[in-house]
Amino acid sequence: MKFHINLLEEFGAHLLTGLVSQGIEMLIEQIEHRWLAAFERTFALCKVQPNEVVALLTESQSRRVNVDLARLALQQMGAKVFEVCLPTPALNAPAPIRSTGATDVIQNLAPVVAALQRAHLIIDCTVEGMLHAPELPTILKGADGVVPRLFMISNEHPEILERTVPNPALEAVVRNAMKKLRGTQHMHVTSKVGTDLNIQLKSAVVGGVWGFCAKPGMVSHWPGGLALAFPAAGSVNGILVMAPGDVNLTFKRYLRDTIHLTIENDTIVRIEGQGVDVDMMRSYYQAWIDKEGHRDACAVSHVGFGLNPAARWDAMTFYDKRDCNGTELRAFAGNFLYSTGANEVAGRHTLGHFDLPMRHCSIALDDQFVVQEGELVKGVFESAAS
Ligand SMILES: [Fe+2]
Repeated sequence: MKFHINLLEEFGAHLLTGLVSQGIEMLIEQIEHRWLAAFERTFALCKVQPNEVVALLTESQSRRVNVDLARLALQQMGAKVFEVCLPTPALNAPAPIRSTGATDVIQNLAPVVAALQRAHLIIDCTVEGMLHAPELPTILKGADGVVPRLFMISNEHPEILERTVPNPALEAVVRNAMKKLRGTQHMHVTSKVGTDLNIQLKSAVVGGVWGFCAKPGMVSHWPGGLALAFPAAGSVNGILVMAPGDVNLTFKRYLRDTIHLTIENDTIVRIEGQGVDVDMMRSYYQAWIDKEGHRDACAVSHVGFGLNPAARWDAMTFYDKRDCNGTELRAFAGNFLYSTGANEVAGRHTLGHFDLPMRHCSIALDDQFVVQEGELVKGVFESAAS
């Protein structure tokens, strides 16, 4: 008996040594005081008040530790919390879907919409998030004199959330970037590896996220810190070159290969290059083209840049895929974020979505550089928002 126990202990020790030597540190999902504190700090920025009614929107596939951390933090702050937990719906897509920001978990269920409309704050712990969910506009109209605000907690391990607790100073920076984008006619993106992309922003719809939401009707997510625009139809033309180290967040993968994308009239018409990254991108797009009979999944969804100095480009390498959703990489300061898929402003609807943050790009807004070779130009967005 003793022999067996020793054997087990030894085996366990070897297993642990093996994992550590591979650089894999196992993260446990449980309530930790420091994570509770991070949730409380973030909810304080959302101005959670005692006796506010807060809805926790969850689904059967939600990361339970975040749901529990949210509930406990909110209760600690004196809020009145209730949870709406829905079954995660069946897949109706030809391929796995990731990071769309458009959960279909509510399925337009009227009692759910009615309950959420009457909450002061909705904490969105759905896997994909409510940002582009079809029910969101109706929910945000509110009811019975209440207008809710919605705060999405990205499906990340709490350690990622702890590292990216929102910085209140980001609000002014993001607001300034949004203002600048709204006044811009033309975005020009270039890079030393060959990107040369022209984006017309006239009639684009601009958005931005600084990582907390304090006012009724607002929507935000954690981690935050980016500004973006959904261009109107027929706005994007040129060459986009993705280099090793750039990221495909749908695949949660750093590229090892170089991918040359030719974009005409919003749509990727050629994917050139060699290697598995190129093949995977082609095959995922093809799944949507085959299923939908059009190329909307290959067309531009949104363009923008990261503004959060606390968000790390290299963060994803520290986590197992199941531990992260990659929202941090959408926000790292100085990235160029190009995304393909649904774009309501251009009248395109698809569930195929790529978020592609890139390093070392230069971004000019009406000939003024705001990002140069992957670095935010100092002073452009820092002044107080007006
Ligand atoms: Fe996106």
